Amino acid sequence: MNASAKALAASFDLEKLTSEFYDDPYPTYRALRENEPVKRLASGTVFLTRYDDLVSTYKNTKSFSSDKKREFAPKYGDTPLYEHHTTSLVFNDPPSHTRVRRLIMGALSPRAIASMEGDLIKLVDGLLGAIAAKGHCELIEDFAASIPIEVIGNLLDVPHEERGPLRNWSLAILGALEPVVSAEAAARGNKAVTDFLAYLETLVARRRAKPGNPDRDVLTRLIQGEGNGEENGERLTEKELLHNCIFLLNAGHETTTNLIGNGLVALDRHPDQKQRLIDNPDLIKTAVEEMLRYESSNQLGNRMTTEQVELGGVMLEAGTSVTLCIGAANRDPAQFPDPERFDIARTPNRHLAFATGAHQCAGMALARLEGAIAISRFLSRFPNYAVSGAPVRGGRVRFRGFSSVPCALG
Ligand code: HEM
Repeated sequence: MNASAKALAASFDLEKLTSEFYDDPYPTYRALRENEPVKRLASGTVFLTRYDDLVSTYKNTKSFSSDKKREFAPKYGDTPLYEHHTTSLVFNDPPSHTRVRRLIMGALSPRAIASMEGDLIKLVDGLLGAIAAKGHCELIEDFAASIPIEVIGNLLDVPHEERGPLRNWSLAILGALEPVVSAEAAARGNKAVTDFLAYLETLVARRRAKPGNPDRDVLTRLIQGEGNGEENGERLTEKELLHNCIFLLNAGHETTTNLIGNGLVALDRHPDQKQRLIDNPDLIKTAVEEMLRYESSNQLGNRMTTEQVELGGVMLEAGTSVTLCIGAANRDPAQFPDPERFDIARTPNRHLAFATGAHQCAGMALARLEGAIAISRFLSRFPNYAVSGAPVRGGRVRFRGFSSVPCALG
């Protein structure tokens, strides 16, 4: 490995990222993987880039905790953001995590997800029709971002006329998870949690008074809990219910927008793979997996050691904060032959875009369905589409995607 890669790895600081890094983080990730795969950053956090090290960390819930109370107390203080994040299932350990996850997985059943397909196709075709009428499109605003918010709105059966603020609440809450949070971003995040909670309280009260169809309406399922509301079934507390509804909206929003946006841009940048998908539409499933691997929309995960533990030959003390770099692991040549190549038929493709282990994404079947329907229908309606100006990156390190992509329809 040459000196410049060593220097790149040595100077890496998650809190001082350059515009080159936001543009293309993969040379840095490679330099880290090859030179300092278990890298201690100036902040004290340990940054992991090897596939095997991520898998061991995700699978070892005894030594690596997801509970963020200790880390978030100084970051957020006693605020709505603190209450929100520390009540979300993703930032909890067993037994609380196990209980809440069982209820959420029960609500996001394969039947509930399969029943969404018809509405999803209608939604996507409606957006494609509006884009065709316009003659050009802004890929993120007009298409990618419009899908997940409606899908999760449908999932919780939020009335259409009340969906307006959801996207900005979600962006503000997730923005406050960045490694560095300005006072202004924290204030935006806190206001978003407060407004979102106030809205959900009214929505839940209405749904309790008039329950929906539990086969289709995840909110009704979550309110009723296990056993469809029978006395002895497990249920979420009110606080768990509200914060985990916010979490569901957030978890499924920016990530899926980025999957669709990143996927369509990757096809545009790899015309051979685009043509291959046009000629072989059945490859859409493996294509979506490759999009998830190649430009993972959620690039970073976090854990905290609960005890002294060895990882990749390095001894970590108890209380060490660990950042798992999914974007780097998904291009590790030890797991993926020729990892920089975008290959829509790649098999096997055991990427970590949805993580693995106890906290593996609870919405991955839904995300895959949204990605496959959105991308395949866009491509079949506009096979000659082309990115027509410089795409603008979202400017986040945790969630990788574009905020705008001008696009000609051909
Ligand atoms: C492309 C889209 C998506 C990506 C890349 C993604 C990625 C992830 C990742 C990496 C995690 C693990 C976090 C960790 O433990 O560190 C996660 C957890 C989670 N995701 Fe997703 N996600 C996506 C879409 C969705 C959707 C559509 C939903 C639901 C509607 C969802 C719901 C969840 C939930 C509830 C968890 C927490 C699971 C737990 O802690 O047990 N996600 N997701």
